[in-house]
Formats: sequence, C-alpha cells, structure tokens
Amino acid sequence: MTTGLFIAIEGGEGAGKSTHSKRLAEYLQSLGHEVVLTREPGGTPTAEKIRKILLDPEITDMPDHTEALLFAASRADHAANLIRPALERGATVICDRYFDSSVAYQGFSRGLGAEKVRDLSLWATGNLIPDFTIYLDVPAEAGEQRMDGTDRMEIQSRDFHEAVHQAFRDIAAGSPYPNVVIDATAPKDDVAAAIRIAIDGVLESR
Ligand code: TYD
Repeated sequence: MTTGLFIAIEGGEGAGKSTHSKRLAEYLQSLGHEVVLTREPGGTPTAEKIRKILLDPEITDMPDHTEALLFAASRADHAANLIRPALERGATVICDRYFDSSVAYQGFSRGLGAEKVRDLSLWATGNLIPDFTIYLDVPAEAGEQRMDGTDRMEIQSRDFHEAVHQAFRDIAAGSPYPNVVIDATAPKDDVAAAIRIAIDGVLESR
C-alpha cells in the first residue's frame, strides 16, 4: 500500500523537465508537502552507478537489450530503495523520467517493442505506477537546441530523437493512467503555471 502522491515528468531531450520538476517541488513544499525530488536513470547510489554506464559516450557497442535491461535494473533499485519507502511514509515523489521514457526510447526508438519494455519495467518495480504523469511536449528540433549533446543518449541521431518525440505523444494519447500533455515550447512561467493547475486538480481529487 502506498499513500504519497507519485508524479512522473516525461518528455524528450531539452523539454525542461529538470527545471519544471524543481519548480513543482518548490510549489508542493509551499503547500506543506514533504517532497522527494528524484530522477532516472539514477536516484540511489546503485542506480547512479548504472547511470554512468548508460550515459558513457565511450561505450559505442552496447546492445539495445543491454541498454533496456540496465534502465530497468536502475529503476528496480530506485523503486525499491527510494520511491516506494518515500510514498509509504506519505511523501510526494516527483520523478524526472520514469518508465514511459523506457517505452519511448527503448520500446519505440530502439524498436524493442512497447509492450515488452513496459512489462519489463512493471516487473522490475513490482507494478509501481505513477499516480500522475506530466508530458512536456517539445519538437525534437527545439529540444536539440537546448541540449549540450555529450552523453551516449543525446548523441543519437535526429531521427532517433524524432521517434522519441512521436512516441511520447502516442504513449500519452493511449495511456490508461492519469496524465496531461503540456506544450513546453511556451514561456517557462506559462509551462510552470499549467503544471501547477494540473497538480491542483490531482490534489483536489484525492
Ligand atoms: P539525462 O541527462 O537525465 O537526460 P534529460 O536531461 O534529457 O532527462 O539522461 C537520461 C537519458 O537517458 C536521456 O537521453 C533519456 C534516456 N533514457 C532512456 O533512454 N530510457 C529510460 O528509461 C530513461 C529513464 C532515460
């Protein structure tokens, strides 16, 4: 049984997820929530070690299946050692990327299959699903201008990132779980306000 609110923030490269995760954390803290702000891959000592492998640009021969399994392995550790305990004590967890990122990047863009990758994540986390997901929508081209382009995932081709962008739109449209898609090309303050309005709605309904 979990009691805290679990929010995931998703989107392609350069969508502003980390900025908006921080702003949302500050907002929820101002409402009196204990907020745990975390990110994937990473969030725990073991998952941060796995992150280093995943993002190492010197690794040029990683099979797609290895990549998918490492993302799932880092998520398993993160869910068990950080997210679930935080939710159980009633904290609000904001996670910068979660399993929809695996579905978009490994399931769609790498072509491993959305269902398989989703099932892998569900298995890895013991079915720990966010209560609410925010998709920050920016075209790959706009996102590309905002990224520094040095890690192993960022240096993938424009086509790869286009496919990620389209995948997030498809995932959001077909998701059975509560979510909102926000146009992240809008000015930052407008994006932050749209996120707050969405979260206010979630809080009211709980
Ligand atoms: P990060 O620097 O955290 O990227 P961003 O600031 O864009 O969130 O790097 C994480 C990278 O890993 C990013 O390119 C997305 C990718 N990724 C996956 O491919 N699958 C996943 O399951 C996750 C969580 C991230």
